[in-house]
Amino acid sequence: MSEASARGVAQAGNDALLEIDRLCVSARIEGRDWQALDNVSLTVRRGEARGLVGESGSGKSITLRAAMGLLPQTLSVSSGGVRFKGSDLLTDGGKSLAAIRGTGISMVFQEPAVALNPVLRVGRQIVDSVAWRRGWGRKQAREFAVELMTQVGIRDPQRWVDAYPHQLSGGMRQRVMIAAAIACEPEMIFCDEPTTALDVTVQAQILKLFKKLQDDLHAGFLYVTHDLSVVAEFCSTLSVMYAGRIVEQADDLKAMIAAPVHPYTRALLASVPRIKGPTKRLKGLSSSAPPLTERSQEPGPSLAEVGPGWQAAPASKEEIELFSAGGEA
Ligand SMILES: Nc1ncnc2c1ncn2[C@@H]1O[C@H](COP(=O)(O)OP(=O)(O)OP(=O)(O)O)[C@@H](O)[C@H]1O
Ligand SMILES: [Mg+2]
Repeated sequence: MSEASARGVAQAGNDALLEIDRLCVSARIEGRDWQALDNVSLTVRRGEARGLVGESGSGKSITLRAAMGLLPQTLSVSSGGVRFKGSDLLTDGGKSLAAIRGTGISMVFQEPAVALNPVLRVGRQIVDSVAWRRGWGRKQAREFAVELMTQVGIRDPQRWVDAYPHQLSGGMRQRVMIAAAIACEPEMIFCDEPTTALDVTVQAQILKLFKKLQDDLHAGFLYVTHDLSVVAEFCSTLSVMYAGRIVEQADDLKAMIAAPVHPYTRALLASVPRIKGPTKRLKGLSSSAPPLTERSQEPGPSLAEVGPGWQAAPASKEEIELFSAGGEA
């Protein structure tokens, strides 16, 4: 087995849009560096929607932010790489990242309040870059903003297009952010809990919109969520993170959900409330991963192939004990 495949880099060939390759990120806490991401590798191809799941604190947002070159100051990439359509994104001082943000890759952030500019009208934030690129005048840009606002389920968009973010509800801000992310028809969209504040009807409408981008433009998605029913509906491939590492991932989400290999994946799937039957809550699955300062600083074991396009980390004795069904509460 090659080192790349041992580490879990899918052999995606020319179709690969995004390749995250053994990415390590460290966090500076009280003058010491702690490992926040440990050799995270994953691939997203054109037209693929990859789910990225794991309990709170497992490193999902950090993975997306690192790949977008948007890490906060206390975090830094210590090794590994990110390639977009074969070009390295992290080695040229952010030049290629700046060029592809918005058109190549766009991101729907977990916190819409932080991601939107408080002093710019929402309509302008949605269309600014696309209007500039296409040389549109104010009227044309405004019309497109209204159209996108309608598409993401904002009622009476004429009323809101000139509002400022603070005048909107949390759910509306989230939809504005989604409209801004899709405005340029990007080739790849990073979604970090994009539909959390939305009711189920709007959520379904947004997923339909994403599917359309996937079908019509072959956009790729890296989709972070705690909602496994959304993953099952929208994604075809899945990566599972625990404490800064990928513990299991597969190109066939259905096969992996049917027979998960790593005890953490099993525990995560078993903890999902089911409509019928009792809900299992496993002892090892608290609602959040251990803090960085309480994790082993040793690199975790390499992923091993457990099936075609399917890798899992060998589980340690502690992990087996922590997550196995014997620990049911
Ligand atoms: N700026 C930071 N400085 C130091 N540590 C951080 C920073 N941001 C996040 N962390 C830590 O890194 C770990 C992973 O955080 P991350 O935000 O990626 O989790 P997540 O999987 O997105 O969780 P959630 O599902 O709650 O959004 C957590 O332990 C978190 O406390
Ligand atoms: Mg997060």
